[in-house]
Amino acid sequence: MAPKVSPAANDFRSDTFTTPTPSMLEAMANSSVGDDVYQEDSDTNAFQAEISRLTGMEDALFTLSGTMGNQLGVRIHLNQFPHSVLCDYRAHVYAEEGSGLAVLSQAMVTPVHPANGLYLTVDDVKKWVTLGDDIHTAPTKVISLEVTIGGVITPLEEIRKISEFARAHDIKIHCDGARLWNASAATGHSLADYCQYFDSVSMCVSKGLGAPIGGVLASTKENIKRARWLRKQLGGGIRQAGILTSAALVALREVWPTMKTTHERTKKLAKDLEELGVVPQLPVETNFIFIDAKKSNINMGVLLEQCKKFNVKLMDERISLHHQISDEAIENLKLAIAEAIKITKTLPEGYVSNAEKGGYANNAKMNGSD
Ligand SMILES: Cc1ncc(COP(=O)(O)O)c(C=O)c1O
Repeated sequence: MAPKVSPAANDFRSDTFTTPTPSMLEAMANSSVGDDVYQEDSDTNAFQAEISRLTGMEDALFTLSGTMGNQLGVRIHLNQFPHSVLCDYRAHVYAEEGSGLAVLSQAMVTPVHPANGLYLTVDDVKKWVTLGDDIHTAPTKVISLEVTIGGVITPLEEIRKISEFARAHDIKIHCDGARLWNASAATGHSLADYCQYFDSVSMCVSKGLGAPIGGVLASTKENIKRARWLRKQLGGGIRQAGILTSAALVALREVWPTMKTTHERTKKLAKDLEELGVVPQLPVETNFIFIDAKKSNINMGVLLEQCKKFNVKLMDERISLHHQISDEAIENLKLAIAEAIKITKTLPEGYVSNAEKGGYANNAKMNGSD
């Protein structure tokens, strides 16, 4: 049985660090046990049908991870190299998936720094897209948008413009919607409002949604048929998938509705930290706070040491909240940060913390890696 207080209650490293709730574990114990390779598992079929309904997409496919969903989502659109994928330079699908685009899709990538420092706009896309049939190039065949990115929400209107541009140029548009749940909870736009502008969307159930394992890819029936084939090729055709999808169904029902509260708690924490002198790197719109350690005069090594002392977990400049974070942990994190600010002021020039000696590199990207 799951403990009453989750071991993830003090874990701010990522919203992946949640633990299954008692009702998830109960659903897993009572799940259907059909064979999903033969599409005979009723919980998995119900989960996929529910995602299809929520996204307004024709069909959906359970994936073992967000990475698998992204890689399949892009690959189904790419049939003949040379071709390239345009995405934000921080995009998980490009920067954090073990060179999957190169290996699995034989794709070049055009990583773009958004001009506004926040999210890609149609102007960025128009500036960096590769069109035409110049034989020196790898034409853009997929645009991949990560929503949210760095916790920041790409406005629906901007997505609409990018989508219109893509469709006018025969470019497919994929959404890494690992945290599309958050965007929807924060803006009130439905998943279907977002998904109408994409040819495929992958979403994670093991991030803010709190299920133990998996993700889901939604697209047309034809694309999902192909993705199922490619998933099998990757070893992702699993048998009693209901043990996992039953937990995902609970997550949709029980955790997704709590996301709005998680965002409110994140914004309140961000405000309290600003009062301590912490400068954020990005606007706080969902469940992430990226602190700018340099501008906040915080030595990150010292902060990580203080976090240990105050019994909270952090790995870089990103603070992630999720539904299991406790009030006590938030108070402890504030104490750790206040102490780190105090200690940093006393450090001699050229001070190297134990964390840095142990390999911590002060290089948190604005996206974090998980
Ligand atoms: C934006 C984004 N997309 C995709 C993924 C991949 O998910 P997974 O860790 O389940 O492979 C992550 C993981 O952290 C992510 O943050």
